[in-house]
Amino acid sequence: MRVLGIETSCDETGVAVYDSEEGLLSHELYSQVKLHADYGGVVPELASRDHVRKIIPLIEKALDDANSSKTDIDGIAYTQGPGLVGALLVGSSVARALAFAWDKPTIGVHHMEGHLLAPMLEDPCPEFPFVALLVSGGHSMLVDVKGIGEYEVLGESIDDAAGEAFDKTAKLLGLDYPGGPHLAKLADEGEGGHYAFPRPMTDRPGLDFSFSGLKTFAANTIRASDGQRQTYANIAYAFQEAVVDTLMIKCRRALKQTGRKRLVISGGVSANKHLRAAMKKMLNDMGGQAFYPALNLCTDNGAMIAYAGCQRMAAGQTSSLSEVAKPRWSL
Ligand code: KG4
Ligand code: ZN
Repeated sequence: MRVLGIETSCDETGVAVYDSEEGLLSHELYSQVKLHADYGGVVPELASRDHVRKIIPLIEKALDDANSSKTDIDGIAYTQGPGLVGALLVGSSVARALAFAWDKPTIGVHHMEGHLLAPMLEDPCPEFPFVALLVSGGHSMLVDVKGIGEYEVLGESIDDAAGEAFDKTAKLLGLDYPGGPHLAKLADEGEGGHYAFPRPMTDRPGLDFSFSGLKTFAANTIRASDGQRQTYANIAYAFQEAVVDTLMIKCRRALKQTGRKRLVISGGVSANKHLRAAMKKMLNDMGGQAFYPALNLCTDNGAMIAYAGCQRMAAGQTSSLSEVAKPRWSL
């Protein structure tokens, strides 16, 4: 089965072709980061308009690179939600229009299911069951994954998502949007032992997260500082260490609670090399194994949507052409 996947939930236009026998055949991505940089965040209306401009050429390129024409495609998967409504509407309208014109089935995919399954595109890939830590700009959650579509949310953020906390703290440090990767780079110049950031919600039971307090702590620390680059680097270091530590404590707890030995880390923040290294070591020490997507598939992309859609279609599921975009949609 060969599936065309389309992702337009936020500020990346992603298109890919995944084949159940041959794997990922092509993967095109256009990032709008530069378009939104001056505004310090994603401007929804600009995002929708740019998806409109980029989506058709990207589909043509993805099909070309996969040596495929419409006749080779068995179905079209698109991100149905959650995300920005205007952005979602572009991908879902194009997907459904192509499906109607080509007489192919469609499947609407949950964006976080895409992230959750992205590590399945790697070799080796995790076997079910596993615990997934999904940490992106919009969500932070721990999920017990028993199989495709069998997801139990164990915990989630009660306020800011992990990526959002990275972005907001980076902004306070004067770094460009999206700040996560810039903050991580600045932290590389920093050293530990200068600041004692809290590890929110780790002193009470449960698997929910809260990151807004860390951002406030960072804001107060920055305000009271001398504003020197080395000081900012030390603050970035301490902030990142606190996020990674907090996520590790919660993951250890989730693995213990479920008895799972495999941990999948996915979503934009899983590109953070300290988080990757810390989780890998923790799982090795526990006699388990950590899995994450390749760096270019941690953030939003069409490959994860094509993969998730292909699995759903292989299980006999399709969506009606009258399905609507779901800007709010729980996993
Ligand atoms: O999954 P994603 O592309 O979009 C959403 O679905 O939200 O995640 C984007 C988030 C942003 O908040 C970005 O700052 C963060 O992932 N991010 C990182 C790193 N790379 C991306 N955060 C920390 N360290 C990184 N290296
Ligand atoms: Zn995402």
